Amino acid sequence: MTGGKGPPAGRRPADRLSGTGAASPRSSRDPVIDRYAVIGNPVAHSKSPLIQDAFARATGQRLRYERLLAPLDGFAATVRAFVEANGIGLNVTIPFKLQAFALARERSTRAQSARACNTLAWRGDHWFGDNTDGAGVVRDLTRNLGETIAGRKLLVLGAGGAARGIAGALLAERPLRLTIANRTHARAVELAAQFEREGPISASSLASLSGQQFDIVVNATSLGLGTTVPAGLWPHRLFAAQALAYDLIYADQTTPFLRWASDEGAARTADGLGMLIEQAAESFYLWRGVRPDTGPVFRMLRPGGGS
Ligand code: ATR
Repeated sequence: MTGGKGPPAGRRPADRLSGTGAASPRSSRDPVIDRYAVIGNPVAHSKSPLIQDAFARATGQRLRYERLLAPLDGFAATVRAFVEANGIGLNVTIPFKLQAFALARERSTRAQSARACNTLAWRGDHWFGDNTDGAGVVRDLTRNLGETIAGRKLLVLGAGGAARGIAGALLAERPLRLTIANRTHARAVELAAQFEREGPISASSLASLSGQQFDIVVNATSLGLGTTVPAGLWPHRLFAAQALAYDLIYADQTTPFLRWASDEGAARTADGLGMLIEQAAESFYLWRGVRPDTGPVFRMLRPGGGS
């Protein structure tokens, strides 16, 4: 799953800022600043501007990054207006990842595999669509949390867009097996079938997880914050010794899944803040060709450390 990685060919910022001063067509005292944004609905809560601003400062990249609220029926029009106002890169969040995929005329392999885009990069006359979620979760697991994926038993709970966004990247790390389990079994079967050529993946109903144990259990359901895991939703004793419970969502307080996992005896827990920062770094790299250091940003957003 290497599509979209490597040097970001055809990157616009270098063109825009080539030479010194990068004079604007409007005024030599008003240089064009490369504009980026996170587009979503809602978007006010997004931490992406904080993260991307920190990356830009740390790497000395001159850019502007903002929040872009698109009407639910106005994604394409909002993106068009953004390009006309010097916008050249977008992070895409709920509910527009599928529309971003449809809008992209060129797509990375990993975006095609996820069938969704969380990152768009303007390539002069069209959008290049990428999906950095899978790379984000793998980097967080392996580099930040020190996990080994190769040879381990992985379980992903959920078979929606979030699960599809990470399955390919997890398989590329060569787990012993990646099991997908979902409330609606048919969706797990469909997801496993889609990725079967990429590695050892299988679908399981929630009930038939009983008696199995896993080294890494990832929550990719949309089970929200401010709730609890319904009793009996997932079987007991899913966690092998030293297992890690990993939630794709993040919050300042412990998430419902991680609370459940601790009660079930998971040795370690981590929420998705690290993944959020890592996928942002991967987007930044695609846009700017520079890979920012993520550690300081994690410490800024979670000063106490921990999950
Ligand atoms: P996303 O893009 O966030 O993945 P999605 O595609 O709607 O959103 O998928 C949501 C996932 O969370 C699905 O796997 C869904 O299970 P179903 O396919 O059975 O609907 C899962 N999910 C949501 N609420 C859930 C709940 N209360 N219990 C178990 N699974 C739930």
